[in-house]
Amino acid sequence: MTTTGDPTASRLTARELTLAYEDRTVVDGLDLDVPHGAVTVIVGPNACGKSTLLRALGRLLKPRRGAVLLDGTDLARIPTKKIAQSVGLLPQTPVAPEAITVADLVARGRQPHQHWWQQWSDADERAVTEAMARTDIADLADRAVDELSGGQRQRVWIAMALAQETDLLLLDEPTTYLDISHQVEVLDLVRQLNHERGRTVVAVLHDLNQAARYADHLVAMKAGRIIAQGPPAETVTADLVRDVFGLDSVVVPDPVTGSPLVVPGRPWQSPAGG
Ligand SMILES: Nc1ncnc2c1ncn2[C@@H]1O[C@H](COP(=O)(O)OP(=O)(O)O)[C@@H](O)[C@H]1O
Ligand SMILES: [Mg+2]
Repeated sequence: MTTTGDPTASRLTARELTLAYEDRTVVDGLDLDVPHGAVTVIVGPNACGKSTLLRALGRLLKPRRGAVLLDGTDLARIPTKKIAQSVGLLPQTPVAPEAITVADLVARGRQPHQHWWQQWSDADERAVTEAMARTDIADLADRAVDELSGGQRQRVWIAMALAQETDLLLLDEPTTYLDISHQVEVLDLVRQLNHERGRTVVAVLHDLNQAARYADHLVAMKAGRIIAQGPPAETVTADLVRDVFGLDSVVVPDPVTGSPLVVPGRPWQSPAGG
């Protein structure tokens, strides 16, 4: 649920955003208003440009044309440190410095808050401890990040993004590598942060049903464009699933939440029926 502010207001917007790698355009003239204080989830088929868009929203990628605006100002005109105090980004495949420990990596999330006159404060310490507790990695603190399992490592990255304590959090497939209970834990944590602290979250999720459960605002992309957006109950339909993913499905109410639940059509069977 949207808990704070005007649901139509937006601090982060994309205007006629075109993103390209060399001569290949991936996102073309896209407009997006990220609803303030809400959880927005981006879905779409592989390679449709979700990560590319998210990286541009976090200024990791420079637009070819158009702009991303934070509070009305082009990201290109805002100093990097200032952006990092407002926008945290967890990329799809982050790379850890070699041999760094879990505690040290999470502590790097505090860099945007540090000053030459104060390298480390009580507030930094609190933020790191809390982020590690909330992602259930406190007992991994002294381990080397490159020796962890994929799921443990993913939770460390999430902790680092949380420690940054930004009002806007961009998460690219934060549930990758996680088993189902840790997936639910991370997504519940996202909702808690949104609810308790009014954090604005934009997440890319590959699981349409999780997207429909956790999003206030769902954005469906295809080939670098937004095909549909709105509350999941109004956007996730069998027609949309066919249009965006090319999949035949039946959409029923989720028995627990009532949100749309996409059930794919029949699995392949041998023609003999055996
Ligand atoms: N660094 C890169 N250099 C060149 N092409 C890229 C790069 N990153 C992504 N692409 C291409 O851009 C398209 C969109 O990729 P991406 O945004 O990662 O898709 P998604 O996250 O939706 O799966 C894909 O065709 C991909 O191959
Ligand atoms: Mg991606």
